[in-house]
Amino acid sequence: MMKHLSKLHLIIILFLIVGCQFNAPSNYNTWDVTGGGRENLKYSSLQQIDTNNYDRLAIAWVYHSENNDSTKFGPMECNPIIVENIMYGVSPKLKLFAVDATTGKALWTFDPADSVANKTWHRSSVNMNRGVAYWANGNDKRIIYTVGPIVFCVDANTGKLIPSFGTDGGINLVNGLDRDPSKLFVAPTSPVMVYKNLFFVSGLVGEETPGHIRAFDVKKGAQQWIFHTIPFPQDKGYETWDDTAAYKRMGSTNSWAGFSLDEKRGLLFAPTGNPTNDFYGGDRTGMGLYGNSLLAIDAVTGKLKWHFQTVHHDVWDMDLPAPPALITVEHQGKKIDAVAQTTKTGFVFVLNRETGAPIFPVKEVPVNTTTTLENEKLWPTQPMPILPKPLVRQSFDTNDLNNLVDAKNYAVIKNTFLQYGPSKIFTPPSVKGTIVLPGYDGGAEWGGPAFDPETQLLYVNTNEMPWLLNMVENKKNQQLLNTNFNVGKAVYMQNCMKCHGPEKQGGGNYPSLMGIEKKYTTSSFAQLVTTGRRMMPGNNVLTPQEKNALASYVLNIKTLKDQQFVGKTAASLPAQKTSYGFTGYNKFLTPDGYPAIRPPWGSLTAIDLKTGAHVWKIPFGEFEALKAKGIAATGRENYGGPVVTKGGLLFIGASADGKFRIIHKRTGKILREIDLPAPGVATPSVYAINGKQYVVIACGGSKWGGKTSDAYIAFTLK
Ligand code: HEC
Repeated sequence: MMKHLSKLHLIIILFLIVGCQFNAPSNYNTWDVTGGGRENLKYSSLQQIDTNNYDRLAIAWVYHSENNDSTKFGPMECNPIIVENIMYGVSPKLKLFAVDATTGKALWTFDPADSVANKTWHRSSVNMNRGVAYWANGNDKRIIYTVGPIVFCVDANTGKLIPSFGTDGGINLVNGLDRDPSKLFVAPTSPVMVYKNLFFVSGLVGEETPGHIRAFDVKKGAQQWIFHTIPFPQDKGYETWDDTAAYKRMGSTNSWAGFSLDEKRGLLFAPTGNPTNDFYGGDRTGMGLYGNSLLAIDAVTGKLKWHFQTVHHDVWDMDLPAPPALITVEHQGKKIDAVAQTTKTGFVFVLNRETGAPIFPVKEVPVNTTTTLENEKLWPTQPMPILPKPLVRQSFDTNDLNNLVDAKNYAVIKNTFLQYGPSKIFTPPSVKGTIVLPGYDGGAEWGGPAFDPETQLLYVNTNEMPWLLNMVENKKNQQLLNTNFNVGKAVYMQNCMKCHGPEKQGGGNYPSLMGIEKKYTTSSFAQLVTTGRRMMPGNNVLTPQEKNALASYVLNIKTLKDQQFVGKTAASLPAQKTSYGFTGYNKFLTPDGYPAIRPPWGSLTAIDLKTGAHVWKIPFGEFEALKAKGIAATGRENYGGPVVTKGGLLFIGASADGKFRIIHKRTGKILREIDLPAPGVATPSVYAINGKQYVVIACGGSKWGGKTSDAYIAFTLK
């Protein structure tokens, strides 16, 4: 063989070897990809900060990403990246920044509000962003990130848009989805994933927008392939929908949580959410692939290699909430490349990376399919792993009611409980109402797990919050409206009630709209409804008349009321799109605002993935008021993930209590708590420069209210 090799061959081989090395998994001492690497392990092999010296950890620098302008403070969920001593991330208003990662000094900022693309395609620039992506070829260095529907490509050297990318440096994601773009809403919240000269996007979408996964080229921003998460007639999986036209009308089924990537195999891993609507599937019966699935997609061709559906025909909003960790585990004496997927339902699915076959057995368990909702057809079984055991409680009975309240408040929650009745995972939604536990925010959430390749322990933070789900029959609304004719209310019930409540009172994480007329004019209101803001999706489906009617209802404008519809009959009401709506995302709380379930309300669990056993579990987060009463740590709602290090530590913010915690990775002992200026509802990044290890976290505050900030805080040993 050898003697046939020419000089050219040798150069090619050398090139391939060097190329492969470049693409080989990192040794986990950098943080140039969100999640610490494309495998999303959130692991750092750095060990300067360790179990002996953690008490010397002190603030190295603070970067105020909005110049300390408190009018611009707000949640930041960004896990920043660090490349060649520069940290890249986003501010609460989604400004992109580059700062010196040793000093926190700003190098440049890019404000999307100033861009032409933003003005023409988006108008309002605010949304959520959990990270940015880096690509380089020689001195051509690029940051690719999303703001609403726009993917921007910014020169990492200068902070200026790269004009040869898309149109003047941006592409509009509503185009290229094989639907009428004027009706679509796309606003990815997770970073794009870069591989070779490609990057991949799906993201948060409107209920009427399909969550198809797409590849674009990094250079020009041209679309390369599209994977239909709602299959077309020629695609495999099409047969899992009873409605043969689902691919034309169905929305969501999107990969909003972000991707992981196996560079060696060229495989993209995409977790998906459920199809529209979250809680009623009577118009989308069938197993509904590729909803709630982990997809392994060939990154170059966009062809599906395998899929694993975690909930069949989901009517509980159990989207896969985080990219999977691409791990290597010892199982029955063999090392296996696997993926670990955490879920809102509290399960961890550990699957073979090549085939999707479960490493620990998964059983199809029969579930309750008795439903009172017309045309609904629930799936008779759901997949449940034998191991690891669920991370959270999956049923709710009288014994689970909050035991810390006084007798008066106990009577209140007991009464609510009796109205709804006991429930367990996959209890069918109903008009009478059900308790949903694990809740819409987990179980596990978007922070995702951390995995230690040395010990093969997986660390997962979770929530335990019961929610109250009430379905409403849209037909009844319609009848009501026929007699008490109010088009604005009908539009509201269809488009807004699920978040802002039947009486505009808000609930869960969504604000009340009572008295909102003091803040908005008809036009600023119409603008907000069109563009959306942060976690409120924009609405491009409503007609101007419908928006007017909506304004008259929400803003209580009596004179304008129903102008467009005077003299018309109920037939001119906007068509009800589904037979059922729901009354909103409502947490089941005690009268003084605590979860109506007994603690823990948040936990952190370490799981040995060799055996599937839980190694330790601690309540995660606390309430000062309860602590002052001598009540042991209750745990608390938390979002954003942990990082595990070779130095023996876990670093985690995430909790609504605003603490940054250093935890012993072997024992779960909380070694130290540091107060942040506002909750660090984000995942930390770990890096080293000139022999000095740093850990940095965004402290924007949370969507629950409370303190907000614009600070990124970096710690190092002093
Ligand atoms: C998926 C949930 C969701 C839906 C659906 C939704 N909203 Fe919102 N809405 C939100 C959230 C979250 C906010 C807070 C946004 C922020 O953080 O700035 C909000 C904010 C608002 C505000 C501003 C409140 C303030 O105090 O400034 C108005 C007005 C509003 N929504 C109206 C509507 C209307 C009208 C509809 C229906 C067309 C609607 N929303 C649909 C989630 C939703």
